Amino acid sequence: MHNITAEIATLKQQFGTRLCIMGHHYQNNAVVQHCDITGDSLELARRVAEVVAEYIVFCGVSFMGESAALLAGPGQSVYVPNPSADCLMARMTPATLVRCVLEQLAQAGFPAVPIAYVNTDVALKSVVGEFGGAVCTSANAKTMLQWALDRGERVFFLPDRHLGNNTATQLGVGQSERHVLRVGARGLVDPATQPLDRRLLLWPGCCAIHARFAPEDVEAARDTYPGCRIIAHPECREEVIAMCDAAGSTAYLIREAMRVATTAPGTTLVIGTENNLVSRLASRHAKQCRIVALGHAICGNMAKVTEKKLLQTLIALADGNATPMMLDETLVPYARLALTRMLDACGH
Ligand code: 13P
Ligand code: SF4
Repeated sequence: MHNITAEIATLKQQFGTRLCIMGHHYQNNAVVQHCDITGDSLELARRVAEVVAEYIVFCGVSFMGESAALLAGPGQSVYVPNPSADCLMARMTPATLVRCVLEQLAQAGFPAVPIAYVNTDVALKSVVGEFGGAVCTSANAKTMLQWALDRGERVFFLPDRHLGNNTATQLGVGQSERHVLRVGARGLVDPATQPLDRRLLLWPGCCAIHARFAPEDVEAARDTYPGCRIIAHPECREEVIAMCDAAGSTAYLIREAMRVATTAPGTTLVIGTENNLVSRLASRHAKQCRIVALGHAICGNMAKVTEKKLLQTLIALADGNATPMMLDETLVPYARLALTRMLDACGH
């Protein structure tokens, strides 16, 4: 066994039940092999509640560690192996700017219920909780968008306009009922000229990793693998999703790979999402079917969490000098409210 791998295994054994390592499916195999719990954003958020360990080491990008810290119980601390691993989409919604836009909407007579993708920081989640909104993940965006539509005349979905648009299509909210906001450094740009009365207002954000897939990639896959099945994550652009056979969250993509492997062996399954997950699924089902990536898509921030960083975190923990994730206490109540509204609406 490689030195780092062996050292982590030894430290894990020493910590025993006092330690739980959680990791997102986009982590590489060297990290995933050490995780006690792996999952997508929704599963990981749900499972924090059942963790009894006092140390939670969270392998993922920072908003995921923050969500774990928000949901952790008293006496538990969350550690992230690389605090600089930060989702770029989560940086597209500065909390002060979003607050300003929510206030502008209300003042203009178009108040909106905010729904924030879990890929946002704690300050943003706090604003969303304060304005009566909730968090969603890619696995429950449909339920949560409907939740918000049932609560107000309009919904403000952020930061990912592609997830918002794809979910709106699923719910039958037409293009003419949507508007991607034009936002500048000081709030809405020229609010009088924007159709703010629409049912769905979208923040102009996206995930650069998933938005990279283009219709030409789907065409090329169909040419290269005749008869293939193509599925993708809903952070992909609407025109890409429209050309795929199906779309769904990380959990859906994993289930679908399993379904194809067991019910349609021999199929070529093309998957449009982060490549660490696609490679893992390709190895897992290699005997039954061929699984290939729709295109190159590596999240550089997820990749900042390495096996070496994980080891360094465990050593620091063992030496008593690891720094736990600290949240601004003033932001916690509303941010936690936004998260628990999601868990309450979708089942814990
Ligand atoms: P999931 O909600 O599917 O876990 O995805 C999180 C993410 O960052 C996707 O890019
Ligand atoms: Fe953020 Fe995109 Fe990376 Fe997911 S894949 S963590 S949305 S940058």
